[in-house]
Amino acid sequence: MKGESLPIPEDLLLKLKEIMPAAFTEGKLNVAHLRELLGDQVHPDPEPYQLSWTGKTAAYRQAQAPATDTLIPVREASVNWEDTQHVFIEGDNLQVLKVLQKAYKGKVKGIYIDPPYNTGSDSFIYADNFAKKTGRSQSDRRQHGHSNWLNMMLPRLLLARHLLREDGVIFVSIDDNELANLKLVMDEVFGEENFVDYFSWAKSETPANLSRKSKKVVEYVLCYQKKKNSEKFKGIQKNSTSSNGLLNQTNKPGTLTFPADVVTTRLEDGPLRKGSYGTDSYTIELLADTEVKSGLFIKPVVLKAKFKWSQPKLDEEIRKGTRISIPTIKLSPSYEKLVYDKEVPPNLINAKVGVGTNENASAQLEVLFGAKVFDFPKPPSLIKYLLGFSDDPEGIFLDFFAGSGATAQAVLEMNQQDGGNRKYICVQLDEQIAPTTKAYQQGFRTISEITRKRLLLLHDKLQSQQEGTTAIDTGFRYFKLAPSNFSVWRGDGTRDEKEQAKQLTLFTRAKINHANREYRLWELLLRSGIPLNAAINEMPVGDTVLYEVAQEGLLYGLDTITEEVLKKAIDLKPRAFICPDYLFQLNEIDKNNLQLTLQDIGIDFKSI
Ligand SMILES: C[S@@+](CC[C@H](N)C(=O)[O-])C[C@H]1O[C@@H](n2cnc3c(N)ncnc32)[C@H](O)[C@@H]1O
Repeated sequence: MKGESLPIPEDLLLKLKEIMPAAFTEGKLNVAHLRELLGDQVHPDPEPYQLSWTGKTAAYRQAQAPATDTLIPVREASVNWEDTQHVFIEGDNLQVLKVLQKAYKGKVKGIYIDPPYNTGSDSFIYADNFAKKTGRSQSDRRQHGHSNWLNMMLPRLLLARHLLREDGVIFVSIDDNELANLKLVMDEVFGEENFVDYFSWAKSETPANLSRKSKKVVEYVLCYQKKKNSEKFKGIQKNSTSSNGLLNQTNKPGTLTFPADVVTTRLEDGPLRKGSYGTDSYTIELLADTEVKSGLFIKPVVLKAKFKWSQPKLDEEIRKGTRISIPTIKLSPSYEKLVYDKEVPPNLINAKVGVGTNENASAQLEVLFGAKVFDFPKPPSLIKYLLGFSDDPEGIFLDFFAGSGATAQAVLEMNQQDGGNRKYICVQLDEQIAPTTKAYQQGFRTISEITRKRLLLLHDKLQSQQEGTTAIDTGFRYFKLAPSNFSVWRGDGTRDEKEQAKQLTLFTRAKINHANREYRLWELLLRSGIPLNAAINEMPVGDTVLYEVAQEGLLYGLDTITEEVLKKAIDLKPRAFICPDYLFQLNEIDKNNLQLTLQDIGIDFKSI
């Protein structure tokens, strides 16, 4: 098994090989061949339409370079480690996104991110100025800043796309500084055909008076689907039972049969003769005699008019309990739904759809923390609304620019509202906080400390609210980005024999440091595709431990494989037994023998 963190180029090549084996020579892609095979389909123009900037090629390479880091568990910073499904990761999201590839490729239902906007401001709690401070002119610096920002975003978006499910959606918050660049770079990464819309979010009711030209009331949220489909996005649900007419003058005339004992009316008791009703501007024909008794049509009502609905739609609505009425002698029918479907969201997001502003979010956060600790947090109501467009109550939702943790709050509140089991993964850099800030004065030294504190406060708050109700998961597993435990993956010692020998002795020492063993375990788990919320059983065997991922039927061995370990593995009869490849350089048991012994009894063996 390959432990490479990054299956992206490999994945692409495999797919290409499957559909175009002829484009490969000795296992490598032959671009000249590919061109010939594609003929006229290859873009003829040496200067095709595209966004280009300084450093773009290197940014692509950055996305493809394998991860040199891993994640280490920090149990003492977590809440309900054993039972929780939520994950918080501290570290640079580029490396984190790489590390997540194996376990989460194609698994994430929704991504919301709110990256630094490149406003050029130095006064925020997080860095937001991508222009290098050189002696260049202001316009040079601005352009340089755009390139730097794009170099930061491109590899992260490429990696994020791989994590999305086929029906996955991504939302990216942005303002006018990088809106145009973000649209073009996202078109490149996700495909223009998968663009859904620019949603405008009313960010403020009291916009700052910073310009003589316009007052900025909105920001934008760009939305793409991994693969745009026919799914209807869901906005808010109308809950008033207002009466709606069933006629539509622009439709062709049709006939609807309303069954007996369904349609209510204000007409008096008695028969109603067939004939022409309606008004001067629209005609409604009653095609058969009918009868009213005690406010109900007790015989079917057959009407010909320009209707909104077809007969199957009418039958379906009646089945769902929609109330139908033909109140007056004009015989114009109307309906009142008991439950309305959620409406397709308008591309303006404001209080009308229940979404708050920056000011609301700041005030809310200040109440939670008892102090102002973050600049311009997003209101969880915005993120809840967006993630609800294409929801899965069992889905995984990711935010890799977590800031104060608004997305985690949104996911928890969504679960609280409908009892769902959505899981969040939030990533935040341990970005240092300046001593001049309120957050510093409150004792925070990094932004990830603020994020974690919000998760703790939310846990306490939601726990106290849910006494007597079905408990939702409010815990989280805390992981931290750290250099790989294996020099072969750190990319720094593969050829250094001395270093390798040192590592091997370290790994095979009987009394291995427990934390180090757990770190190596998690690295192997991640590199073999096990998610961060997996339940792991520890099984002591003599001096060492075996680890079982029961839901996958996998067993992991990290130290010397003795006869005793082998016997235990055979007893447990997992689907597969996995251990690091380095063990076999000093191991008592020969790798091939081990493989054959295990295979004989139906256990797959993998070294990684
Ligand atoms: C605009 S803020 C997000 C605010 C968040 N939506 C909220 O409501 O609190 C952007 C965040 O991204 C973080 N960030 C910037 N670069 C990062 C990186 N390379 N890895 C992880 N986080 C990063 C910053 O520290 C900052 O907290």
